[in-house]
Formats: sequence, structure tokens, C-alpha cells
Amino acid sequence: MRAIRGATTVREDSPQEIREAVAELLKEIAARNASVQESCISILLSNTADIRSLYPAKAAREAGFSGCALFSAQEPSIDGALPLCIRVLVLAEGDAPVRHVYLRGAANLRKDLSRYSIALDGPSGSGKSTVAKRLARELDILYLDTGAMYRACACKASEAGVDLSDESAVEAMLASLDLRIEYRGGAQHTILDGRDVSEEIRRPEVSMAASKISALGCVRKKMVEMQRKIASEQSCVLDGRDIGTAVLPDAPFKFFVTASVPVRARRRYDELRAKGYTVDYDALEKEIEERDRNDASRAISPLRRAEDAVLVDTSDMSIDEVVAFIRRRIQEKV
Ligand code: DC
Repeated sequence: MRAIRGATTVREDSPQEIREAVAELLKEIAARNASVQESCISILLSNTADIRSLYPAKAAREAGFSGCALFSAQEPSIDGALPLCIRVLVLAEGDAPVRHVYLRGAANLRKDLSRYSIALDGPSGSGKSTVAKRLARELDILYLDTGAMYRACACKASEAGVDLSDESAVEAMLASLDLRIEYRGGAQHTILDGRDVSEEIRRPEVSMAASKISALGCVRKKMVEMQRKIASEQSCVLDGRDIGTAVLPDAPFKFFVTASVPVRARRRYDELRAKGYTVDYDALEKEIEERDRNDASRAISPLRRAEDAVLVDTSDMSIDEVVAFIRRRIQEKV
């Protein structure tokens, strides 16, 4: 017999939210645990006392889990407990491997079971940051845009008038670098010397400077340390150039996201135009090629696909298709 644990949360105590959350949790348990629906003996659900509008067991029955015994109970109120939480214990026949499932904020309940990192590497314009943001939102985990950190270093160097080809001057600048990554409403904010530079670092002229400064060993050492610390504290999706090869070589999920140069140049062109920048497509294509060359040919942690990374060529794929593909690969393994 198998005993599969799981938990999820709802944003508010409404029948609709409870229905959706329970259906999603049970569907995920079924997706990750072979033939659980057919071999299910019973499903025991419990909910925190702030959930009163629908029995989770009723939601389970409505979600199609009606062929087994269902039971739900209310938990006592415990100070500091995760609010609006629904827990489940699924008992099923068989001895297939058991995979517990903690979704939404409930993943924090069992960090030991559910903490994982997803490494998304690839050249600029491959769509990896859009995909990474979507994945993080759908999996309810953190998104860390590591390129933003190199961009912030480049901004600081340019403000301080530091020559990027003078590594000792850059190293001296790093000693006083106050770079913090904060999250507001799920969005990453890059704070440089107490100032939010999230928009500023997207300026086109920062891109090439970031590519140059990121080739320096002292810069990479400092950024990689920060990235590893963030990734060690929670589940997250990191996008960059060296996540799968150098930052988190043991990440359980690695993808190398790429696309042809013209496709990437077109995407960057549309993105910059939408932000109101005047851009020349041909110049952009050349710049992308040059950045690729810089990033791939530098001596330290060059842009390269890790041997165990899954290659995703997004040239002819929509964002939805890429996200669905990556999610499937993740769910096969978690
Ligand atoms: O992804 P992006 O365009 O925001 O990255 C800016 C530059 O930073 C990019 O040219 C290469 C560098 N970078 C890096 O070397 N390693 C990373 N993990 C992320 C970015």
C-alpha cells in the first residue's frame, strides 16, 4: 500500500477556490504517482479552521475521485500555522514509488521534500526569461534573473567611470557594491546602492557592458555566491548563461533554451520598440551575434549547454508551448 501526502493553499475561503485547489492537488498527485486514481482506497483531507465554505472531500468527489472512501476534517487552530491550507493523505494499493506533492504556498511546509532548482540557460532573446517567469508563477516558486545582477554591476561601473578592461579597478568597485535582490508581488527588483534600478538596467547600452563585465572572474565569483545563497533558501527558477554548468551543476532540472539569431533579434527588436526605444534591426542582429560570441568565448563559465541539459529550440515555438514542454519534463521527474 502507498501513503501519499500533499497540501495546497487557497487565496480565500470560497467554494470555487477550494474546488480548484483540491482538483489541482489531486490531479498533480495522480500525474506524479502511477495509477493512483484506479488503485485509490481512501482520501483523507483536512483543512485549517479558516476554511468553512466547502468540504474539501466534496471538492475531491466533484473532481472525479469518487470511487474511494473520502473523508475531510477540520484542524485545530495553531498559532503561526500556514493559513487557508488543505492537506491530503491518499491511500492507494501497489508499491510504485511515492511522490508527495506540496503546491502553492504549502511547498514551504515540506522544504525537505519539495525544494528544487530549475536552471534555464541560453543566449539573449531565446525567450528564457519570459519562460522562467511563467514557470515560476505556475509552480509558485521564485524566479531569479541572474542577468539583472551582471547588468547592475555594469551600471555601477559606468556610474563610477570604471574602465571595464581594468579588472583591478572593477574589483575595487565590487568591494563597495551594495546589490540586493528583492521581491514585491512576485516580481524581482534589483536594488543597487539602495536605489531600484530594475528599469535602468534594461537600457540597450547596458547590455553590451553587462556582457563585458560578466567575463571578469572577480565579478562572477561574487555574483555566483549570491545566486547560490538565494537558490539554497527556496525552490527557484534561475535563468542565465552558466546556471547548469557552474552555479548549480547539481540542479535536478536543466534546460538550454535557444533560437536562431534572426528570431532572437526580432524578439528583442519588438520588445525594445514596445518600450519606446528607437532601434535599428540590423544593428541589433549584429549586437546579438557579438554578445553571443563574447558570452560563449570567455574563459570563465562561458555560455554553453550543460551535458545533462535538455535542449529547447524555441525558434518555432510559442511561449505556451515552451512552458508546457518544460513543465512536462519536470513533472516526469519530480
Ligand atoms: O540575460 P541578460 O541579457 O540580462 O544578461 C546580461 C549579460 O550578463 C549577458 O550578456 C551575459 C551575462 N550573464 C552571464 O554571464 N551569466 C549569467 N548567469 C547571466 C548573464
